[in-house]
Amino acid sequence: MTAISRSKKLVVQLAVLVLIALGTSFALEIVDPQQAQAQSNVRPPANAVTSPVGGTVPGASSGNQSDSEMWRAVRKGIKGTVSIPDKKAGQLVQSEGDAWRAVKNGPIAKWGVIGLGGMVALLVLFYLIRGKITVDHGMSGRTMTRFADMERMGHWLLAVSFIVLAITGLNITYGKYFLLPVLGKAGFATIAGAGKWLHNYVAFAFMAGLVMILVMWIKENFPNKYDLEWLAKGGGMFVKGVHPPSKKFNAGQKILFWLVIWGGLGLSLTGIALLFPFQFGFPTGMEPIQQMQFATTWHAIIALVMTIVVIAHIYIGTVGMEGAYDAMGSGEVDENWAKEHHSVWAKEKAKSRGGRKSKAVPAE
Ligand code: HEM
Repeated sequence: MTAISRSKKLVVQLAVLVLIALGTSFALEIVDPQQAQAQSNVRPPANAVTSPVGGTVPGASSGNQSDSEMWRAVRKGIKGTVSIPDKKAGQLVQSEGDAWRAVKNGPIAKWGVIGLGGMVALLVLFYLIRGKITVDHGMSGRTMTRFADMERMGHWLLAVSFIVLAITGLNITYGKYFLLPVLGKAGFATIAGAGKWLHNYVAFAFMAGLVMILVMWIKENFPNKYDLEWLAKGGGMFVKGVHPPSKKFNAGQKILFWLVIWGGLGLSLTGIALLFPFQFGFPTGMEPIQQMQFATTWHAIIALVMTIVVIAHIYIGTVGMEGAYDAMGSGEVDENWAKEHHSVWAKEKAKSRGGRKSKAVPAE
């Protein structure tokens, strides 16, 4: 017999075997569906004896009882009672923790990177297309006071603490992907440990800054008649020579203000819940451990959204707009800058200043 005819015979034999197997299972299905199901399904039939030894396993070294139904219930989060003060110990496995970890390391981490990277890319694009927003009438050389010392102190307390919290917080979420491979385990552990320490304590400076700007700026951040026009014209950001009127804060700044205030409050409350775990029983109807999972999830979402928005704010306050940084740097802004970006405020300020002269900036 040649090699070709031998392999042909083998294929035919295999095909016949497969046909027999298929035929048998088909016949079984017709003749005795129950038996067929018992053979094809991993689930035992209803009348099967699942634990022939009644949970008793021979041998003493690893225990005599092994009840799969009980362990299944434990895995699904069944709660028992304990006599020690920590009542949480009555639940051995909290299965929602799986979902919590998957959401935090999955969609939240993924959309955070997309949001952060997307914002940086948008700003680079904006800079390439629009360039730096300059003062159309040129700098006048005369300045007026925009923010008093206390206002700038509150802003910088908030800003510096937020940046420290953002960097150390991003390290908690992303450090294991970006820094760990570069620094190695020991190096990363040192950085992450110091970062966590900073994150915990700098949080209080952030809260203090938040309260300061709330108290000092709230009255200028309620909506007024100029806001809709400002929004409709995109704040004049996209077209040279367009300057919608505005009081001390324009609609964009008000949106940032309220986002920082409400976001900051959310960060503070969830942060305090994490800083002092299981100390406060929030009236949420949730289990204490669920409250912690809820707190970390919200903390991460709010922090990422705020960081994405603050990146745009920092851009406009530095490279994006000529003359803007001075407002928070020295507290003095050029009169022409004030007239173009906050015309109503500049007029009111000039009126209240009466006969007093504005400061002339000495020639360099
Ligand atoms: C390097 C970082 C930062 C720079 C250069 C910067 C710059 C500025 C400037 C120049 C202003 C005044 C704008 C004006 O006169 O109209 C301002 C205002 C403000 N900043 Fe910042 N800032 C920074 C970080 C932050 C951070 C991290 C936050 C909050 C977490 C923040 C919150 C605010 C708020 C709420 C205002 C008032 C509303 C507004 O002007 O948009 N800033 N900032």
